[in-house]
Amino acid sequence: MATFVKLNTGAQMPIVGLGTWKSPQGKVKDAVKAAIAAGYRHIDGAFIYKNEEEVGEGIHDMINDEVVKREDLFIVSKLWSTFHAKSMVKQACEKTLSDLKLAYLDLYLVHWPMGFVAGDEAFPLDSDGQIIPDDSNFLQTWEGMEELVDAGLVKAIGISNFNRDQIELLLNKPGLKYKPANNQVECHPFLAQEKLIDYCRTNGITVTAYSPLGSPDRPWANPDDPTLLEHPDIKAIAGKYDKTPAQILIRFQIQRNVIVIPKSVTPVRIQQNFKVFDFQLTEEDMKTILGLNRNWRGCAMQWSDKHKDYPFHAEF
Ligand code: A2P
Repeated sequence: MATFVKLNTGAQMPIVGLGTWKSPQGKVKDAVKAAIAAGYRHIDGAFIYKNEEEVGEGIHDMINDEVVKREDLFIVSKLWSTFHAKSMVKQACEKTLSDLKLAYLDLYLVHWPMGFVAGDEAFPLDSDGQIIPDDSNFLQTWEGMEELVDAGLVKAIGISNFNRDQIELLLNKPGLKYKPANNQVECHPFLAQEKLIDYCRTNGITVTAYSPLGSPDRPWANPDDPTLLEHPDIKAIAGKYDKTPAQILIRFQIQRNVIVIPKSVTPVRIQQNFKVFDFQLTEEDMKTILGLNRNWRGCAMQWSDKHKDYPFHAEF
């Protein structure tokens, strides 16, 4: 049986979800169907993944086949950075809803704290290869997000890739109507995020771990980068429980009550990644895994590191 994490809205968010970043069209529909058949009830997506229509097809096939009801699913999407102007937030959300063919999202996140200049280019770059910012600020974007809740388009709102200071600014925003329910950040043993998780928790914000397996398929992977799934300590712990390294990395997050969204388009892996509720890592194993932290980021968004709201100059 899967477990849930309670949001500050009162909603229950399934602790394991299917990640869909980098899941290509032509494969992601079957991945979503395999996940729902395997018991997943949480699907994580985003406008920028350019696959939401197919994700929606997978969801609707399973609803039409009466495998699952809409109200038993927890569907997440994210506002892309070129839609940060308060006046653009609703149209961006409506585009995602229409691609997914859904009447509402369970959770909608501000994908990054940084606004990019609006237009057809999702990553507008200047001649130095740096992102061209817009003149928005995420406190105004948040007001647009709050309006989506009031309009009934989304049940909960949250943030992604926000650092501690940025969250604090948001929580202290004059007239704040809804606190963020969730912060989705890169998180795995090489970037354990203990301080950020503690800070979020203290403020009633749940955390979702993206790239929990270290995203070996990230497009900018370097052959010298450390590989989590191959790490000898992770492999040794996996051997002890007769589990795979991926299952250990997923279970590690569940035991710290962190929501986790492993991505796969491979049905056997999708099934395997959900078989994580029948064993328990010892405290010593948890300590060993936490000891692998080296503050290594697979998703640093370097091409926006001169943006005023770039989140990763801060310690956490
Ligand atoms: P694929 O999608 O081809 O099955 P992350 O969730 O950290 O972003 O990692 C996703 C990557 O990990 C993808 O390349 C995915 O491959 C791979 N992956 C997912 N599940 C497993 C697994 N159980 N064992 C090995 N690799 C996996």
